[in-house]
Amino acid sequence: MATAKYYLKEDVYFEPLFNHWYAWPYLLPPVTGARHLVNTHRRIMQSFINNYELHIMAIKEKGMAGAEFLNCKVEDLPRIKELIAEIDDKCADLVELSNAVKDLDEMLRNHTSGESIDPLYPRVPKPLQGYVELFLDMEHRASYRLIEPLLYRSKFYKPSLQSISLGLLSRVDERPFVLSTPRLPDENHLQVDVDFNHQLLDSLFKARETPLTMNEIEQMFAGLSLEGGLKVSDLFTQEISKYSYEPVESGVKLAYTGHAGFLIETKEVSILIDPVITSRGAEFANEVISYNELPPKIDYICLTHNHQDHVNFESLLQLRYKTDKVLVPKNNGGSLADPSLRLLLKQFAFDVYEIDDLDEIDLPGGKIVGIPFLGEHGDLNIRSKTAWYVELLGRKMFFGADSSNPDNNLYELLGEYFYDVDVLAIGMECVGAPYTWLYGALHTKLVGKSIKNSRRLNGSDCKQAFPMVKAFNAKHVCIYALGLEPWYNYFMGIEYEDESMQILESNKMLEACKNAGVNAEALYGSKTRYLSDRSMPTDSNSNNKNSLLV
Ligand SMILES: [Fe+2]
Ligand SMILES: [Fe+2]
Repeated sequence: MATAKYYLKEDVYFEPLFNHWYAWPYLLPPVTGARHLVNTHRRIMQSFINNYELHIMAIKEKGMAGAEFLNCKVEDLPRIKELIAEIDDKCADLVELSNAVKDLDEMLRNHTSGESIDPLYPRVPKPLQGYVELFLDMEHRASYRLIEPLLYRSKFYKPSLQSISLGLLSRVDERPFVLSTPRLPDENHLQVDVDFNHQLLDSLFKARETPLTMNEIEQMFAGLSLEGGLKVSDLFTQEISKYSYEPVESGVKLAYTGHAGFLIETKEVSILIDPVITSRGAEFANEVISYNELPPKIDYICLTHNHQDHVNFESLLQLRYKTDKVLVPKNNGGSLADPSLRLLLKQFAFDVYEIDDLDEIDLPGGKIVGIPFLGEHGDLNIRSKTAWYVELLGRKMFFGADSSNPDNNLYELLGEYFYDVDVLAIGMECVGAPYTWLYGALHTKLVGKSIKNSRRLNGSDCKQAFPMVKAFNAKHVCIYALGLEPWYNYFMGIEYEDESMQILESNKMLEACKNAGVNAEALYGSKTRYLSDRSMPTDSNSNNKNSLLV
């Protein structure tokens, strides 16, 4: 009798953890990680200890999912206290590093003479000595850059703080919001104490498509430290999923994979933009594109910017074993608020390439181009952001992500080079959170209310997005799902009403496009389109019944 083989279940969800918190990109670079450890994690957990009744009450209120309340129970108090003690104990050097950033800022703030900064080097706080270059900007203001590659080699980069959590959608009501609640081991999860480079990860995720014997599964987990009530055998099934990958036959396949994600594919190349791939549970089973439907090999993952809903480690690590190259926006290097995506992803064995504005990568049958992306980062000098232009088989696609358009002169100029675009995709979260929601922990001086309120993570409204359509002479416009897809609640944490500005502006955009004779749609859930090959005028693309774009 043949040995039984097992697949990883489709509703298994994976959470990469950093010191028991969901690992979003700013937690992993040593200095931003240290700042969040102290100013976000420890602060929220301490607030829970001081006021747990308030937290428990507030989290039940509508619209509070994304706020800074721990979604924990009274029984969790001892474990939360332990986590705080661990920060002060296991991570004492990171606490010192975080304080050093504050002291360095203070010292540089007081250097107002504009004179040489060299005498300040001996006074750089100890943990940062050797890891910074001090400089003066053109207005003689003092600042510094971090020597990031060295920091990744230092004691401050701690893979030992990484671990993973596995759960089953069928066993939980909903995944708690990822940014405000630590992941404690419980009866519905299996936590494994391995860092993100451990071979378990790739072997496990490969088992979604290549089944394993129970013996191989046991070997995979042998000797590892496991915690929680979910058993390894609970994660696997002999059943073959009814959802599978469908290879492209001709032309260009363009699939919306949810949130801001797209799969673009021809017979020769496959590209994923900002993948946030969800696991498939019983609920929304037909509305999501999950791992089983992705190509067996992904040639390029293109990331637009370093927000957790675009650089999603949960998805990236699950796709690593089948990904060839990752393209990321080039940054300035060394700024605290703008850690290098290339260096970060390199730590996890990705083959990463930085693309600057208007840099091109040649593809079989076309190219990928980095397009300037303005705004949406609270006016911080963050360069780790790019929109992507993809041209394949004569088809032109623009993926704007959260680009805002404070100055349409940029798009007027770009439109001279990128014209007659077949598909323009844009996010319209025109009112975002105050920028301090993501970057506040990096500040070392209190930020005033008026600053917080005026500097938000705002994407485009209709007034900003519609001129892009005109400038690129776009034929078809796709508006992202605005975080409305409920299967992403665990990382979006927002709830819109019909009257919310984001919905009103998105509707306004649909109307503006309609009036201008441009096709436009608000995306929600998986959707696949086929674009016929324009590089060969004779291709009728007759095989593709779904070819709505011609
Ligand atoms: Fe964003
Ligand atoms: Fe976004």
